Amino acid sequence: MTRIDSLLTAMTLEEKIGQLTMIAANAATTGPTSQHDLPAAIRAGRVGSVLNLWGSKETSELQRIALSEGPHPIPLFFGLDVLHGFKTIFPIPLAEAAAFEDELWEKTARAAAVEAAEAGIHLTFAPMLDICRDPRWGRIAEGPGEDPVLGARFAGAKVRGFQGTNQLRGSRLFATAKHFVAYGAAQAGREYASVDISERTLHEVYLPPFRAAVRAGVAAIMPAFNDIAGVPMSANRTLLRELVREKWGFEGVFISDYNAIAELIKHGVARDLAEAAALALKAGIDIDMMGGAYERGLPVALAREPALIGEIDAAVRRVLKLKEELGLFATPIRPSGSTAFAAPAARRALAREAASRSIVLLSNRGVLPLKSAPRRVAVIGPLAAERHEMLGPWAMTEWADDTINILDGIKAALLASDVVSANGVSIDGNDDSGIAAAVQLANTADLIVLCLGEAASMSGEAASRSQLDLPGRQEMLARAVFDAGKPVVAVLSSGRPLTVPWLFDRAEAVLSTWFLGSEAGHAIADILTGARSPTGKLPISWPHSVGQVPIFHAQRASGRPANPSDKFTSKYLDVPNEPQFAFGHGLTYTQFSYSNLRVGREELPIGDPLDVTVDVTNTGARPGEETVLLFIHDVVASVAQPVLAFRASAKIALAPGETRPVSLTLPADAFALVGRDLNSVIEPGEMEILVGPRAERQELLQAKVRLIAR
Ligand code: NOJ
Repeated sequence: MTRIDSLLTAMTLEEKIGQLTMIAANAATTGPTSQHDLPAAIRAGRVGSVLNLWGSKETSELQRIALSEGPHPIPLFFGLDVLHGFKTIFPIPLAEAAAFEDELWEKTARAAAVEAAEAGIHLTFAPMLDICRDPRWGRIAEGPGEDPVLGARFAGAKVRGFQGTNQLRGSRLFATAKHFVAYGAAQAGREYASVDISERTLHEVYLPPFRAAVRAGVAAIMPAFNDIAGVPMSANRTLLRELVREKWGFEGVFISDYNAIAELIKHGVARDLAEAAALALKAGIDIDMMGGAYERGLPVALAREPALIGEIDAAVRRVLKLKEELGLFATPIRPSGSTAFAAPAARRALAREAASRSIVLLSNRGVLPLKSAPRRVAVIGPLAAERHEMLGPWAMTEWADDTINILDGIKAALLASDVVSANGVSIDGNDDSGIAAAVQLANTADLIVLCLGEAASMSGEAASRSQLDLPGRQEMLARAVFDAGKPVVAVLSSGRPLTVPWLFDRAEAVLSTWFLGSEAGHAIADILTGARSPTGKLPISWPHSVGQVPIFHAQRASGRPANPSDKFTSKYLDVPNEPQFAFGHGLTYTQFSYSNLRVGREELPIGDPLDVTVDVTNTGARPGEETVLLFIHDVVASVAQPVLAFRASAKIALAPGETRPVSLTLPADAFALVGRDLNSVIEPGEMEILVGPRAERQELLQAKVRLIAR
């Protein structure tokens, strides 16, 4: 008999349900808190896993109770939201997506895993893989942006990074792909709202990152809070069981979101906890996070429907198997100390590098990089001297004190300058009494760094906004500072794009710095001074106005494409169709030109990969790194395809005047579309291959390839 078989034979129903129950220690919460006496519940075998507790001492103590005082020698596992760092905080995922760099995504996840593992954590509720095209939704900050192909790459890299390999057993952090699925399509961008999208959109846009996570061997998946067309994900048997388990072959565990099974009652699909529990179990959810639905509902559900015991046993098996794979039976307490990122200094250096590679230079009239150290720099605005805000919405275990804020970073970089600072206003609120003093300070400076944006809590969970402009009196402050007539570099900290067209008109340069984490200030200063050149590119379209959302590059053509001289075409009366900045936009400190785009073959048998090559020249005066983007357009297909669809990217570093070829290989399935029957198909016909800096057609070089049947 295997260990799992004998445990199952020995366990009571209550103890089995205990393995399916995850309880929060009260260290941090994102929902109703628990009334549990956690140690007592563990002693009674009513808890199989714990969230929101960290620290090797704290976790070891509970583990000891489970093993020596619980009914069976079954270890607990500890889960936590380690999204973009544990102690060393890396940029928020949306920011890091701007790096277009799989190796970096993997490295920061690995570093986070090492730190979290040392603190006794076994599983992270990450990566968050919700594609989102509506920046009203605050959780856009937590994911990889608007594009499914980029999202799938992000998924693979993060899962590999967190989970590592068997050799890294001591520092493996099992990953949870979340939130499955289409949570990013919440109606009107309102948190926890219903989702109603076509099955086609589900398959084309929202599923691919999860598919990639499963292919990378993700250990767990968390169903989302939302319903899709009336079926809440916590009860969605078709998607959880039939698609992910059976068709994709996912062998890990489904862990519910916080209280989400109990919320099936409020969704209006279950009358009581027992019905909610039965629906979730049948849909395939193994672990109930904090709902009490399995604990209190399953015994009743089982009395109503005895056959459910089979499902309960199967779920317990999966949980015990996860514990075996985590090595918990052999090593229930994580040994601390690890290999690759053992030195915290190396993690800080990685955080600084990741942060600088996540910054997107949105506009620059030549003021950056700074030519010489200004005599006096005024760092003005409510985000100038903030530490905590730099960490973003998911720095659960914040040690904010050692965060480098923008002011610290600039002071450290410009030792010869007199660096002064004023908040002017707070991030939100109506008090404008500090503006006059800020303007006075501005009058004395040669350069102003204007630090504007959102508070970290304005994005992330439960942080939807109906306006995407600057909160509070920040615009008033900015306009007053501009009127001082000094050169202004604006630094935007935010978890989403902000609609500030006036800022781009008036500032000499604007940087989107998102929330960059522990090394934010150093990274920003590195870019301002030119110690590092900006390389980030937008992983989402940046709108002019909130009325343009949802906005994304992979639009389908209209039967009446926009034509300024024809009223009856697809457009707005009051705003362009195009975003303020396209997907892929991001300036560097030099310029690049593209030439000589060529494809490996003009006719491509279906099933073969395609080689694409383009020459890139650094036409500016400084060395630089360009991220080359490749899009396709399937001209005529059985289902109309987007006029531009991102497929691949590659990076090249070039000296001034240097030209080098960049090659990209498109795998055969880069040409696949979701057919009329929702199955993936590659159709013969003409395909445009478009290569260039960003998703703006007029800037892309174009080649053609004809796909032919074999
Ligand atoms: C609710 C959030 O939706 C989810 O992302 C998170 O993992 C859990 N709370 C646990 O904190």
